[in-house]
Amino acid sequence: MGAQGQDLTINGTAVTLSVDGDTSLLSVLRDRMDLKGSRIGCTEGYCGACTVLVDGKPVQSCNTPVWSVAGKDVTTIEAAERHPVLSEVQKVFVDLQAAQCGYCTNGIMMTLAGLLGQSPRPDRAHILAHLDERHLCRCGVHVRVLKAIDQLLAQSGGATA
Ligand code: FES
Ligand code: FES
Repeated sequence: MGAQGQDLTINGTAVTLSVDGDTSLLSVLRDRMDLKGSRIGCTEGYCGACTVLVDGKPVQSCNTPVWSVAGKDVTTIEAAERHPVLSEVQKVFVDLQAAQCGYCTNGIMMTLAGLLGQSPRPDRAHILAHLDERHLCRCGVHVRVLKAIDQLLAQSGGATA
């Protein structure tokens, strides 16, 4: 597939990019939009470091071709200040220091923002299963991330049991 105009909205701004439709969303974000908060990890859909929101749902941008998000809203960690749920997630992570090297952290926060944003009463087991399946942390900050999740659930009125 050759380069062609891809229309999408990134952090609230409509953009048209001349890029091969099979280019990964991660590459577009980092290399064309200079949004480096979405990290390059495995690039094969295993680690979750590259997670962004597409129409509010967590998506691994490394294995998402840009053609598939045409016409959709993409949100990255750089939009945290303007995104109510994401900013709340980020604040709790900072308050509880729920990171070590931080490489996995943006992706985890994006997933949490997506899951908390989708459900007014999010289920802890569902969140943990999602994180377990789609995110890796080599530093082992799981206990602090769990504390952050419980804090967020308490704030949202979600079930923490
Ligand atoms: S870099 Fe996308 S899942 Fe690992
Ligand atoms: S904090 Fe280092 S990989 Fe998770």
